[in-house]
Amino acid sequence: MLRERRNWWSIPSLARKIPLSVAGKLEGRAEVMGLDTRKHSRGEITSRVAMVFDDPESQIFGLSVWEDMVMSLELAGLSREEIQKRVDYALERTRLTGYMDRFPYLLSGGEKQRLVIASALARMTPILVLDEPTSELDPIGTTEVFDTIKRLREETAMTIIVVSHKSEQLAQVADRLALMSDGQVKLVAPKKEFFSNVDVLLKSGVRPPQVAELGSQLKEKYQKIYGYPTDLEEARKSLKKIIKKRISIPRRAEKMPEADPLIIIKDLQHMYKSESGDVHAIKGVNLEIMPYDFIGLIGQNGAGKTTLVKHFNKLLSATEGNVIVDGDDASRKTMLDLVAKVAYSFQNPDHQIFNTKVEDEISFGPGNLGFSGEELEEAVDEAVEAVGLVGREEENPFFMGKGERQKVATASIIAMRPKLLVIDEPTTGMDWLTGRSTMEMAERLNKEGKAIIVITHDMTIVAEYAKRVIVMMQGNILLDGPPEDVFNQPEVLKKSFIEPPQISQLMSEFVEGKAVLSVREAAEIINTLEE
Ligand SMILES: Nc1ncnc2c1ncn2[C@@H]1O[C@H](COP(=O)(O)OP(=O)(O)OP(=O)(O)O)[C@@H](O)[C@H]1O
Ligand SMILES: [Mg+2]
Repeated sequence: MLRERRNWWSIPSLARKIPLSVAGKLEGRAEVMGLDTRKHSRGEITSRVAMVFDDPESQIFGLSVWEDMVMSLELAGLSREEIQKRVDYALERTRLTGYMDRFPYLLSGGEKQRLVIASALARMTPILVLDEPTSELDPIGTTEVFDTIKRLREETAMTIIVVSHKSEQLAQVADRLALMSDGQVKLVAPKKEFFSNVDVLLKSGVRPPQVAELGSQLKEKYQKIYGYPTDLEEARKSLKKIIKKRISIPRRAEKMPEADPLIIIKDLQHMYKSESGDVHAIKGVNLEIMPYDFIGLIGQNGAGKTTLVKHFNKLLSATEGNVIVDGDDASRKTMLDLVAKVAYSFQNPDHQIFNTKVEDEISFGPGNLGFSGEELEEAVDEAVEAVGLVGREEENPFFMGKGERQKVATASIIAMRPKLLVIDEPTTGMDWLTGRSTMEMAERLNKEGKAIIVITHDMTIVAEYAKRVIVMMQGNILLDGPPEDVFNQPEVLKKSFIEPPQISQLMSEFVEGKAVLSVREAAEIINTLEE
């Protein structure tokens, strides 16, 4: 999203990271507010540009939320009152009021991300660059950040550039959009025109807003009426001209095979003890996970999703209650016993990866479990193939992009051939195509007999792929059922800061009985309407 005439496309060169802190050769010129980035100091450039990157942990320095926020403001020589005013404003905007004394490293993924945004916001520079600022946020958190952006845009003279895969939200705030692919700018256009290029976008791995994508899948006669709307309101109006009365779709009742639960959770409670106060993260959860499950675990930031799954292989122990894994009480098993059954892929792959070669990283886990020789080789090959990293075995994971590091992390746990695979935030830092391919991989593994839990804030992929959706709210389970039921209850979901996918929201006005889960499904319903 751009609000200036100049073309500032390379985000790192904007903050003078290139050529200062990133190795490489810079050709051509990059200018920021008239200053050539090669001729001016970083201080001069960064006083004009505040940046938020997709990896919040690398940008948090303070030992408290307050300290993290005021560091740069004190350096800038602002008065105490001005600092307080800005901090209050930024915390309020990012829903972090009351967090002032919290220790930043113990915040949930999304809370950390909001803190980084708050710190940037408080600097009030003329240019604000947000690089994937909402990749770890719950849907309403995402909406709030984009609302904040919208408000900043309306109320200040700030130039705002947002790099994001979330096209539904971009469509609401951006004046202009630019598509980058293979290091080049492929398309720059005002919003409406930009999103009507559905095929060009999809080819570059960019998903247009679901309501616009629907246009490209309709029969010609409906396409002409519907067009390529970019927001929900517009789409509703157009669709009303096509669907005249509500359509009732009965839910299909799927029969599940007889099986013993793989995991049984009884009255689980978890209390984190910390100096800044105890946090009651799980407050009495009861749950059964079946060997055939493909679960989307969703819920607001800090709801307890990561905390819950960490009990399945003893990364955390129950404060109260029981965890039964494959028939055994977890409290009587070692972590190694459990890791062979339940594999957990960390929210941040950098917490998991420590080898300097992809192959070594992937063979480490199964090696520890006693795999050797051909069996080990086979397990590694299988895993490399499953995540699509064939041919990259010799590379150093630390030089790979975050999405690729996530794949290495996932491969390293698949190689242990667990019965349950937990993937925490697979879409963080991944574009739509990669997110999708991760879900397709999970689907494949599920069909081969593994239980899958995917924790994510991307409702479009949960709706499309998961067979069961569990919604958490403040340490409890709020909803548990098939996606067509769960996403049919927007009012309940709101309690956990979740919104159904845009296509479900659109179709809910025209279809009753179940939620419509994908653009493909919506197009099928419309294309087969009786005249
Ligand atoms: N090690 C810790 N010490 C203290 N509190 C913690 C710790 N880890 C998490 N918490 C707190 O416990 C609560 C639940 O956190 P958890 O990480 O399970 O949330 P989550 O649902 O995974 O959120 P997100 O979607 O942001 O990743 C949050 O309030 C968080 O701040
Ligand atoms: Mg989490």
